[in-house]
Amino acid sequence: MTAGPRVVVVGALPTVGADLLRQRFVVEAGGSRPERSWMLEHAPGAVAIVADPSIPIDAELLDIAGGSLKVVANFAVGHDNIDVEAARERGVRATNTPDVLTNATAELAIALMLAAARRVAEADALTRSGRWPPEDQILGRELAGATVGLVGFGRIARRVTQLLRCFDVRLLFTSRSEAPARHGAERRDLGELLADSDFVSLHVPLTSETRHLIDATRLAQVKPGAILVNTSRGAVVDTPALVDALRSGRLGAAGLDVYEDEPHVPRSLRELPNTVLLPHLGSATGATRDAMARLCVENVIAVIEGREPPAPVV
Ligand code: DGY
Repeated sequence: MTAGPRVVVVGALPTVGADLLRQRFVVEAGGSRPERSWMLEHAPGAVAIVADPSIPIDAELLDIAGGSLKVVANFAVGHDNIDVEAARERGVRATNTPDVLTNATAELAIALMLAAARRVAEADALTRSGRWPPEDQILGRELAGATVGLVGFGRIARRVTQLLRCFDVRLLFTSRSEAPARHGAERRDLGELLADSDFVSLHVPLTSETRHLIDATRLAQVKPGAILVNTSRGAVVDTPALVDALRSGRLGAAGLDVYEDEPHVPRSLRELPNTVLLPHLGSATGATRDAMARLCVENVIAVIEGREPPAPVV
């Protein structure tokens, strides 16, 4: 093996990123879902760990990596998989890939709103099966004239509001910070937003405060028949409560890109006709994933060269 600083890659990093890393480092790649034992075996002595959100980077792994470890570079904007406090305590930097995936994820949230509202998955399945539905079997709803509530008002939610301007919707948002209203969106508290919105789209990071933010109590506050879209993290929603709300008709439909225990998608969600289910594709366009890979690697190189990384978390 070539001598030199070693970078361990766990999770899905596109070739462009792996090639850039190989120009400077010895790269050991564990594949898209490596066994924990592989990580524990390869982490010791590495200067950097590149991970995606499906790979937990916890205190044990940081300790096993040891004093050589300078940075955990996430190939994602979300960093709920990293024990950021443990990294901070050990003087290890953590980085992410914001901005470059904002538009792709915002577009996918809108795709899910439209797909759930127009029953695209259900209609596609019928058509493929050769069963042409009667005229009035697949009646949907339009975005135009609807109220869209965005829970969280970070970069992706703000891009959603910008893109939705053409759809003639009324926009509401919640925000922890004093985020200024944009593109005509009006701030509400969560209860008011849920009660008033025909579409609710989730755009908060997963933290201890947002875990199961949308639970049975919150789902009881939604406007009957509303459509829920989640492109943030699965655990922001309590899945059994979501299934109950979809079964009872309290929620009209859900468009989901994320799940509590990925890649496991509960049978209860898969069996419901009023769900559109995607396998965590928010940032999944070729151009965006390549831009994420480049930013991820720039973060690694900056830290190893003693510079401030372009996208620090800690
Ligand atoms: C992110 O960047 O956090 C996305 O969920 C990963 O695709």
